[in-house]
Amino acid sequence: MKKIAPSILSGNLLNLAAEIKLIEEAAPDLIHIDIMDGIFVPNITAGWNIVEAIKSRTDIPLDVHLMIDRPERYIKQFVKSGADILTVHYEGAIHLHRMVETIRELDASPGVAINPATPVDFLSEILNYIDLVLIMSVNPGFSGQDFIYSSLFKIEKMRKIIIQRELETFLEVDGGIKVVNIADVANSGADIFVSGSGIFNTDDYKKTIDEMRERI
Ligand code: DX5
Ligand code: ZN
Repeated sequence: MKKIAPSILSGNLLNLAAEIKLIEEAAPDLIHIDIMDGIFVPNITAGWNIVEAIKSRTDIPLDVHLMIDRPERYIKQFVKSGADILTVHYEGAIHLHRMVETIRELDASPGVAINPATPVDFLSEILNYIDLVLIMSVNPGFSGQDFIYSSLFKIEKMRKIIIQRELETFLEVDGGIKVVNIADVANSGADIFVSGSGIFNTDDYKKTIDEMRERI
């Protein structure tokens, strides 16, 4: 039920195929791919070509996190390239509902992410239409930042809302998650845990992921 989603672009980009192989040995539930456009966030990663390339190397479902301005322009390309879950930011969208419906029509699972300063209540109207809520526990843009501890209250609040409304929405948390704090995130009610540097900066990915699972 609880899922680990390694953020693959935190791995060695010169040898992505080898990183996928190594991470597959740890049997993660999802592979998280961070797409940044240099406008919505102050960093640039890659486009849908990277999703397509990763898809050709693995059967693990791809959890694609779009940190891009006006993502509605590129939804189709990302789903066609192999995104199983496609998450867009609340802050980057004008017609969020339309976008979520498009993602579903294309046969992917729609998710909506919120930045640290965005209250969970803002998702109230869209919640019934999505499969996943992503609470950012760092300001998006870079891996390796410190976990913002006040995010735990947002996770708790969101979990309560999901229970009250009898929904089955996944609650994903992304940013600064490591072996040392993953239990706090789990206890607050998260069920999908994204980790970049917390996994890829360690020597043994499988050992790290096994330890994360134990602590959860
Ligand atoms: C942040 C990204 C995260 C990030 C995770 O903008 O959305 O997925 O790469 O990296 P860590 O776990 O190192 O914070
Ligand atoms: Zn992410």
